[in-house]
Amino acid sequence: MKHLRTQVGIVGAGPAGLLLAQLLHLEGIDSVVVENRSRQYVIDRVRAGVLEQGTVDLMVESGVGHRLQKEGMRHEGIFLEFNGTRHRIDFAELTEGRAITVYGQNEVVTDLIEARFASGRPIFFEAEETSVHGTDTHSPTIQFRHSDETYEVRCDFIAGCDGFHGICRPSIPSNEMSIYERVYPFAWLGILAHAAPSCDELVYSLHERGFALFSMRSPAVTRLYLQCAPDEDISHWPDDRIWNELDIRLGSFDGWRPNHGEIFQKGITGMRSFVAEPMRSGRLFLAGDAGHIVPPTGAKGLNLAASDVRNLAIALEAFYRTGNQDLLGGYSARSLRRVWKAQRFSWWMTSMLHISPEASAFDQRRQIAELDYVTSSRAAMTSLAENYVGLPVD
Ligand code: APR
Ligand code: PHB
Repeated sequence: MKHLRTQVGIVGAGPAGLLLAQLLHLEGIDSVVVENRSRQYVIDRVRAGVLEQGTVDLMVESGVGHRLQKEGMRHEGIFLEFNGTRHRIDFAELTEGRAITVYGQNEVVTDLIEARFASGRPIFFEAEETSVHGTDTHSPTIQFRHSDETYEVRCDFIAGCDGFHGICRPSIPSNEMSIYERVYPFAWLGILAHAAPSCDELVYSLHERGFALFSMRSPAVTRLYLQCAPDEDISHWPDDRIWNELDIRLGSFDGWRPNHGEIFQKGITGMRSFVAEPMRSGRLFLAGDAGHIVPPTGAKGLNLAASDVRNLAIALEAFYRTGNQDLLGGYSARSLRRVWKAQRFSWWMTSMLHISPEASAFDQRRQIAELDYVTSSRAAMTSLAENYVGLPVD
C-alpha cells in the first residue's frame, strides 16, 4: 500500500472538488483530489451552463477566469413565454446591473483541471474502490486503488465533492443526517445542436404540451430542452420528432423558431429536489451535489456547488491560519441557508413552468395566473431576477 499525507483530501473532480482544490491551493493549503472517472469523461460530461455573477467573480479571483471572460456570453435577461406571448425579464435593470453568464460546465471543468495540473499538486483520475474512513477522528483517510496499487491518503479533513451518487454522503451514519426530498413527475430531454442560437437570450416556455427551454453554448451551438416523462425512452425520440416538438412548444410566439442543425448530443435528466442536513459529519464536509440536488429550471446546481466550496475554503483557511474552528463549525448552517433559498426558487420555477400530470384544472389556471403576475408586476419580476442572478453572499 502507498501512503500519502495531505491537509485536505477531496473526493470527486467535478466543479465542486476542482474549484475547492484551486481555492485551497491559492491559500497554500495542500490537497489530494481523487476521481473515479477519466479526465476526458469528466470534461465531456454534458451538464449545466449558467453562471451567476458571484460564480464568475469567484472563478476570476481564483485565476481561472481568462477564457470565461473572453468566451462566456453575458445575458442581462431571460424570456418567459406562455399563452402565445413572450415577456422579457430585464435582470440588469431590475438588479442594478447584475447579469448571468452562459459558459458550459465542460469549459469550467476544463479550465479548473488545467489549473490543477499547473499547481503541481496531485490529482488521481480513474481511481477505483474509493472509500473514506475515520471521519470522526483527527486524521481521516481516503483509500482507493489506482493503476494496480492501493493508496491510503491521511488527511486533516475530507471534502465529499463526489456528487449525488458518490460514496461520501452514504458513509455518514443515517441517524446523524436528515434527508429532505421531492421527486417530480417529469424529466428533461436535452440536446446540443450545431446551430447558431436564433435568439440572444434564454427562452423558458410553458406550452399545453409541456415545458421547453431554448439555451445556448456558443455562437454556433444551441442547447434545447423538452419536458418529457421520467421513464421516457430516448429511442422514441428521433431527431425529426425532437425538432417538431421544439418548434411547437417554443413557436407559439410570433412564429419564432430555434435554428435547426445536426444534433450531436441527446440525454434525459430526471428532476429532483434533495437536501442532506447537516452537510458535515466529524471531519467530513459535503459540498455540491453530494449534499443537495436542485431541479435544473433555475440553473442553480453549479452555482450552489461554487458557493459551498467558497464557504469551505474560507473556513479551512481560517482554521490553518489561526487554529480557530468556528467557521468550520458554521459551514453547514451557512451553506444550507443559501441552499434552501435556491431550493425554494428552483421548486417555484419548476412548478410554474411544467405541466404536471397531477395538476387539477384549478392548478393549471393558477399556474397561468402566476406567469401573468410574474411578467406584469415589477415586484414579482424583481424577485425572480434577484434569485436568478444570485442572491448576495452572506
Ligand atoms: N470516487 C471518486 N469520485 C467520485 C466517486 C467516487 N466513489 N463518485 C463520484 N465521483 C465523482 C464523479 O465522477 C464526478 O466527477 O465526483 C464528481 C462529482 O461531480 P458532479 O456530479 O459534477 O458534482 P459537483 O462537483 O458537486 O457539481 C455540481 O451542479 O448543476 C449541477 O450537474 C451540475 O455537476 C454539477 C453540479
Ligand atoms: C443550460 O443551458 O443547460 C440551462 C439553462 C438554463 C437552465 C438550465 C439549463 O435553467
